[in-house]
Amino acid sequence: MDELKIFSGNTHPDLARSICQYLGIPVGKAEIFEFSNENIFVRVLENVRARDVFIIQPVSSPVNKSLVELLIMIDAMKRASAGRITAVLPYYGYARTDKKDQPRVPITARLIADLITVAGANRVLTVDLHAAQIQGFFNIPVDELTALYLLSNYFKDKALPNPVVVATDVGISKRARDLAAKLDAPLAIIEKRRLGNGSKTETLTVIGDVKGMQAIAFDDEIDTGGSIVNAANVLLREGATEVYACCTHPIFSDAATQKIAESTLKQVVVTDTVPIAKEKRVPKITVLPIASLLGEAIHRIHTGLSVGAMFEQEDAGK
Ligand code: R5P
Repeated sequence: MDELKIFSGNTHPDLARSICQYLGIPVGKAEIFEFSNENIFVRVLENVRARDVFIIQPVSSPVNKSLVELLIMIDAMKRASAGRITAVLPYYGYARTDKKDQPRVPITARLIADLITVAGANRVLTVDLHAAQIQGFFNIPVDELTALYLLSNYFKDKALPNPVVVATDVGISKRARDLAAKLDAPLAIIEKRRLGNGSKTETLTVIGDVKGMQAIAFDDEIDTGGSIVNAANVLLREGATEVYACCTHPIFSDAATQKIAESTLKQVVVTDTVPIAKEKRVPKITVLPIASLLGEAIHRIHTGLSVGAMFEQEDAGK
């Protein structure tokens, strides 16, 4: 495969810059802007003919604009005769609409997969999908990375005396169990119920023992912060001595970070798969950079090395 080129949409240029720093190459030049009629325009400002092109764009706020920008960038690269195009979605938006669980609802996560493919992407690189099955919504190769090692190494270094990993709902319990295994800690599970189609949730019970322990509540993403703040209160009520939280994707919509700042949570550890505005970086929030993980995966995809081996090495080091 010919020369590696990294381009960035407008959503997370800082991440693209850090990935390029890891790879020791400059960010590719492109102009992306909106006309007065809100139509997005993209022009690639350097030759990409036969090149191995990666486009970095999380589908995060502003979600719909991020998505359309990504699709138009893929189209521009395709028409500029790029050799191979990889859509890098550190965060896969709409992933929570991944099944038809009520009458007459869409499967938007599948629609997004179709749009990315039809636009002309040859591969997808992403991090911690809300549901692993989304990989199968594509008929092109998908590499899904995980931030589990970043998060588990952070808590290993913290050396909490008596930790327990807590899945914030049943859906995340398998991945929470993996985190627990890496920390040699037991697992507890919160029974959570979503109230209607909105963002309100109700925390019901804790399955497992947390008394006298330091709870590490685990989720794939924090959106409004409701689930994690409720979880902290219930865990303290059940006897946990302190509650930490961690997740891969800090969506932090509405007043999430203010809620976290005012909550009983001791610390919230996240990665930067999506940008976090300065005013949202409250002291309780610790951000672990994801760029080297993505940079290493891009290097391996470009040179034909195994991506899975990155994690096998981590597992061997456990
Ligand atoms: C949902 O199923 C996800 O795994 C998270 O639990 C959810 O996004 C958290 O949302 P919020 O922070 O709004 O409670």
